[in-house]
Amino acid sequence: MDYKNQVAQSIVKALANQLDLQTVYEKIEVPKSTKLGDFAFPTFILAKTLHKAPQIIATELVDQIDGAGYEKVEAAGPYVNFFLDKVQVSQEVLNSVLTAQSHYGDATVGNQGKVPIDMSSPNIAKPISMGHLRSTVIGNSLANLLAKTGYEPVKINHLGDWGTQFGKLIEAYKLWGSEEEVKADPINKLLEYYVRFHKEDQEHPELDEEARKWFKKLEDGDEEATQLWQWFRSVSLESFKRIYDKLGITFDSYKGEAFYNDKMDEVVQILEDKHLLKESQGAEIVDLDKYNLNPALIKKTDGATLYITRDLAAAIYRKRTYNFVQSLYVVGAEQINHFKQLKAVLKEMGFDWSDDVHHIPFGLITLNGKKLSTRSGRVVLLDKVLDDAIDLAKQQIQAKNPDLANADEVAHEVGVGAVIFHDLKNERMNSFDFDLNEVVRFEGETGPYVQYTRARAESILRKAAQTVQADDVKLDDANAWETVKHLQAFPETILRAVKAYEPSIIAKYALHLAKSFNQYYANSKVLVEDDQLNARLALVRSVSIVLEISLNLLGVQAPKEM
Ligand code: ARG
Repeated sequence: MDYKNQVAQSIVKALANQLDLQTVYEKIEVPKSTKLGDFAFPTFILAKTLHKAPQIIATELVDQIDGAGYEKVEAAGPYVNFFLDKVQVSQEVLNSVLTAQSHYGDATVGNQGKVPIDMSSPNIAKPISMGHLRSTVIGNSLANLLAKTGYEPVKINHLGDWGTQFGKLIEAYKLWGSEEEVKADPINKLLEYYVRFHKEDQEHPELDEEARKWFKKLEDGDEEATQLWQWFRSVSLESFKRIYDKLGITFDSYKGEAFYNDKMDEVVQILEDKHLLKESQGAEIVDLDKYNLNPALIKKTDGATLYITRDLAAAIYRKRTYNFVQSLYVVGAEQINHFKQLKAVLKEMGFDWSDDVHHIPFGLITLNGKKLSTRSGRVVLLDKVLDDAIDLAKQQIQAKNPDLANADEVAHEVGVGAVIFHDLKNERMNSFDFDLNEVVRFEGETGPYVQYTRARAESILRKAAQTVQADDVKLDDANAWETVKHLQAFPETILRAVKAYEPSIIAKYALHLAKSFNQYYANSKVLVEDDQLNARLALVRSVSIVLEISLNLLGVQAPKEM
């Protein structure tokens, strides 16, 4: 039910169509305090035509409005305040939540349109960084939101599995590496070789020449080079997958940069045919002056293709494969220019669908106020962060609920959920600082707080030991009103989050709903045998359902007990 629309209609009718529905709808406000009602209409807009003071217009308008369906309608200065019929609204809202269950808030706006989401996309032989974590969890949540609203998301891990660095890695491995070492601890060992290479090549520039040769061999399909590359790729992927498993996140495709090796000639061909390629200092570029962008480097002096050339091939491949309605790239804000260039070149190539390509950037995570970087050694190993979070969760669960049956499983859901939630509650462009102790707290604006509220709702329902009926839910309790209104706002909140590609809207919503429910619970007794018992339990059940959906949309589990 769109109650704002109902209010707009009442006003239009009372004004005998002096204003159209759209205009009125857009003017309607939600008062800061519920004491001023649920909706307010400011009458200033009528002052000119009616030649009256807004205060007078408001009073007169109230007399014209059909008050049926409202608790009351009253003038307050220049405003007309509408108080919805709480019992009626509660009945409608609780009934629809209980009927739809986990489908509450489902929408069909997506029309089954496919939406590839380029997400996570770490680089082989390097640890997954906090930046990759952001991309992973934001991308995953966007996929959930898109699916909820009728799109078909396709989660693509565009692995960084090609490039000159593999020449260096092979050379380094041949010089200093061993199979046993790599097998025992692939990512760290490979990183170690790579770092050592960069140190030693300062004094031994001939190393670079060797690395170039290895990469050339790799590009030419040399057997040894290919085998090593494949091996590095698969051990890296295995260790990435351990982290994805911990996070509970899966992908539909792992087609990385290497997949496009044989698809770039076509890109270069199209650019040539359209006379878009220019030579500049021996390299081939596309001039993007008219977009106010730096030229896109398509081919290097030595003929090697570049990051953007692969992305052009990938974009075209995705259009052909999925015929997408939107194509998303969840990649850090430091690559904003890259994606502007990508879109501009696609546009120059004559692909009108370049308008459906969207970069979804996000800000940096800092650690104690400092930027993290692999080079400086300020890496936070994600695996370790997750394990520490799980440990912290376990400690708190042991203190709060020592008899919990499946404590390990719940600690996992809470610890990992806390890290994900913390990431997603921040607007994606905001940078934020990471402090694990803040993240795993059970109070405050945290994932565990929302999970705990949901578990508490479930525990009330267990105690009630009666099934909740969806029809008899005329809840008459002013304390519950905030919560009912939050529940009512859920479907439109989901649509807003999808439109803005902003999971934080759902995280903030969940925090508000949890807070209002806890307030309700502090002020009203639920488990009392009277004719409102079913209605109150319906509220509790509805909150539990909607908190669970919200958490799941974020990619966070909702344990029933914790
Ligand atoms: N591997 C890249 C990095 O770690 C991110 C790739 C993003 N996706 C893309 N299609 N360019 O920076």
